[in-house]
Amino acid sequence: MGFYRKPRGKDAAFRRVLPVVVVTIFAVLFVIFLLNTTTSDPHREIWSSNRVGEVELVKYNLSSFNVKPRLPKQNKLSIALQKKNQLPPRNLDLFPSLAKDHTIIVLYVHNRPQYLQVVVQSLSKVEGIGETLLIVSHDGYFEGMNKIIESIRFCQVKQIFAPYSPHLFQDSFPGSSAGDCKDKDDPLLKNCQGNADQYGNHRSPKIISLKHHWWWMMNTVWDSLEESRHHSGHILFIEEDHFIFPNAYRSIQLLTALKPKKCPNCYAANLAPSDVTSKGEQWDAMIAEKMSNVGYAFNRTVWRKIHSKARDFCFFDDYNWDITMWATIFPSFGGPVYSLRGPRRSAAHFGKCGLHQGQGERNACIDNGEVNVELDDIDKVVNIKPDWKVHVIRRQEGYKAGFKGWGGWGDDRDRQLCLDFSYMYHYRDNT
Ligand SMILES: *[C@@H]1O[C@H](CO)[C@@H](O)[C@H](O)[C@H]1NC(C)=O
Ligand SMILES: *[C@@H]1O[C@H](CO)[C@@H](O)[C@H](O)[C@H]1NC(C)=O
Repeated sequence: MGFYRKPRGKDAAFRRVLPVVVVTIFAVLFVIFLLNTTTSDPHREIWSSNRVGEVELVKYNLSSFNVKPRLPKQNKLSIALQKKNQLPPRNLDLFPSLAKDHTIIVLYVHNRPQYLQVVVQSLSKVEGIGETLLIVSHDGYFEGMNKIIESIRFCQVKQIFAPYSPHLFQDSFPGSSAGDCKDKDDPLLKNCQGNADQYGNHRSPKIISLKHHWWWMMNTVWDSLEESRHHSGHILFIEEDHFIFPNAYRSIQLLTALKPKKCPNCYAANLAPSDVTSKGEQWDAMIAEKMSNVGYAFNRTVWRKIHSKARDFCFFDDYNWDITMWATIFPSFGGPVYSLRGPRRSAAHFGKCGLHQGQGERNACIDNGEVNVELDDIDKVVNIKPDWKVHVIRRQEGYKAGFKGWGGWGDDRDRQLCLDFSYMYHYRDNT
């Protein structure tokens, strides 16, 4: 078609045909649009479409934020910890400022000090870590965990504590309370409180704490904490059983910088493959696949999109945050949700040696406070080349739309608390 050629020296003629050209372009786009929407192959992916960009269009349903959160009554510890969350980061004397384009790191933990010790040790060797802020989010209050975090001297550190963690409440919700149904109790026969999940089981505070913590932490980091609520870049999330390689920080910075150009359909960047037992393909290519729960980084636009699905997140009957995301949130985005990563992992999930939970000892495990991760020299520096192509893994095993959930999340009180976490920083009391 003529308009692809530059009409050099024929400006007047070009101006005359311009309306025709514009109309033609719109007609062509419209036909493409019709073809896209009328083809019914669900596995077809339209790479040219700017689906990820659509997240910009997400608007809040403001009326839903006018529901006043009904958070549980706090005890002394819960109130004290919430106050602690306002303290400034530590190590400001050693690291008075953050680098311009830093990626905040959030480490979320429960109570495995031997694991945390290993993770912190690995973080201390990460190139560039001194440029950023490390936020440690605690589910429960444990001295052994605090001691390890307080010993950190390699970057700014801010500790936050989930004030509604079930671990802080001994005899009331979100902990267990006297009148609660247990296991498969019938509320009418036993005259107890609770709603069973889809498999007939009642809530178990220890188990539901993980999903609550993750959701509280996401809402708090993105929408409340002074140190991160204005952050315009990516935030990297890691857990207390993720060994972090020395090249992890530089790699995630490179991947997030390459993401818009190399993988427009990628919502996130990852430090490790979605198969936690894999060390990566070791190809000369970057890989786009479903988001892994080990070392994932995304930005505020993506958070807004996730947050707009709060109701789906909070009502899905599965106590795992990651399965909830894969089975209900990501599929609702209306297109493939990929994450960009390198061909070698920069973080390794580890478990206790000798326990066979689908992850062999050949991969990574901890024994007497030591992790047996092999670190080759190539893993100590950035090993991703910006000119590599992106290999896309389109059809992947694992949890996806249609999975009904493992249960454990059937109690109305948990669903309401989760919703309250979504609204608590947005509700404006106009009375
Ligand atoms: C907005 O939220 C309110 C309250 O949750 C609901 O009643 C209403 O239908 C929602 N509106 C839209 C357009 O989704
Ligand atoms: C955040 O990431 C998404 C997905 O990669 C991208 O479409 C969007 O433009 C980014 N937003 C900002 C503010 O950089």
